[in-house]
Amino acid sequence: MLLDPDYGKYPFTEVDREARMSQVTVLPLSLELEVTEGQTVMAAAHAAGYVWPTECEMAASCGLCVSIVRAGAEHCGPMPDEERETLERTMGMVDPSRRLACRLTVDGPVTLTKRGVRPAEEG
Ligand code: FES
Repeated sequence: MLLDPDYGKYPFTEVDREARMSQVTVLPLSLELEVTEGQTVMAAAHAAGYVWPTECEMAASCGLCVSIVRAGAEHCGPMPDEERETLERTMGMVDPSRRLACRLTVDGPVTLTKRGVRPAEEG
C-alpha cells in the first residue's frame, strides 16, 4: 500500500476554511473582504479592522448597516426574518438589492456599496 507523501501536511480544517472563503468588495472604499461560510459581511469587516455604520451593534434592528448589492446577488444568502422586518420598518419595503450587512452571508463573490465603512483607527 502506498502512502500519500503529503498526508497530514495540511490540516483539513484549514483547506476547508479556505475553500469556503468568498470575496466581498465594498465600494466606494474598494475594500476587499474575505468572508467565511456562515460569517456575516459586517463581522468580516470587523475582523479585518474596519468599522461599519451601526447603532444596534449587529442586532439587526437599526437599519444603518444597509448596503446596496451591486453584483453577485445570486451569491447572497437568504434573508432572515429579522432582516426583512427591519428593512420593512426602516425603508418601508423589502428590495433584494438592499441588505443588512449584519445579517448578510455570501457563498461567492459579491460587490456592495456602503458609505461610512472605514478603518477602525480613524475613529
Ligand atoms: S447593524 Fe443595526 S441593523 Fe445591522
